[in-house]
Amino acid sequence: MTTITCVVDNSAKDGTRLKTEHGLAFWIQTDDGTALFDTGQTAGVLSDNMAVLCLDANHIDALAISHAHFDHTGGLEAILPKNANLIVYANADVFVPKFSLKEGKFSSNGFEFTQAEYEKRAKWRLSRAPQEIFPDLWTTGEIITRDEPEGRSASHYIFEDNVYMPDPYRDDMALVLKTRKGLVVMCGCCHAGLLNTLAHVKSQFDGAIIGVMGGTHLMSADGELLAHVIDVLGAEFPEMRYYLNHCTGDTALEALGAKFGARVRRFSAGETVTFLRMD
Ligand SMILES: [Fe+2]
Ligand SMILES: [Fe+2]
Repeated sequence: MTTITCVVDNSAKDGTRLKTEHGLAFWIQTDDGTALFDTGQTAGVLSDNMAVLCLDANHIDALAISHAHFDHTGGLEAILPKNANLIVYANADVFVPKFSLKEGKFSSNGFEFTQAEYEKRAKWRLSRAPQEIFPDLWTTGEIITRDEPEGRSASHYIFEDNVYMPDPYRDDMALVLKTRKGLVVMCGCCHAGLLNTLAHVKSQFDGAIIGVMGGTHLMSADGELLAHVIDVLGAEFPEMRYYLNHCTGDTALEALGAKFGARVRRFSAGETVTFLRMD
C-alpha cells in the first residue's frame, strides 16, 4: 500500500494548523521506503507542516525534485541536514541556472546554493531517462515530445552558454506510481504541459493512467486552451481521477470538476490518498 500526503501547497485542509505558501511537497509512503517529492518554497513551512502531520524528516530515504524552481526546492534545508545518506533524483539539467525577468532585471528563481555545494551534502542521481526510486515508484525522465501546449511563463529564463534564453524546461519531470489498478502520475509544476506529461508516461510505462496529482500549470491557461485540455483528457483518460493543487488554479479546478464531477478533488496540504500495491 502507498499513501501520498500533501505536506505543502498553496492551500491547506480546513481545520488544520498547516501553513500555506506557493509551493508543493508530497510525502510518499510505500512498502519499500519513504520518498519526498519536492520541498515547497521554504524550510520553515515544510518543517512546521511535517511536525503537524507527525512526519519525521529522518525517515526519508529518497527525495525527487520535479524541477529547479524555488517553490519546489526552497525547503531543501529542512531535509538535507537530517539525512546524511539522502539520494536525490532529478533531471540531468536541473542545475542549469534559472532566472526570472522582471522590469528588465534577471533574478535567480532556482536553487539557493550551487551544484557543488549540494553534491557535498547528498547523493544526486541526475538523468534524462526514467529512474527507479523504489520498485513501484519511478521518475518519468525527461518529457521530450511536446506536441501539446507547455506550461510556460514569459518571465522564465535559463543562463546557458553565457547567454540568457527562454527556459525550455528540460528539467521538468513528474513521478509515476505503479498501483494495482494502474499508473498514478505526480506532477510538480507541469511546465512541460499536462497533456505532454501524460502522453510521455503512456509511451514509457505499461498500464493505464488512473490518477494525476499535483500542479498542472493550468492557472495561466485561457478559456480556449482549458477547453482543449479538458476535451483531450475526457477522450484519452475517461476513468482518471484528479488530485490537483498548486499551479492548477481555481478556474481550471472548477472547470475540471464541472466536466468530471466527483473524480476531481482539490489536494490541499493535509489531504491524503492511498493506493494498493501491484501484487
Ligand atoms: Fe516552476
Ligand atoms: Fe511551481
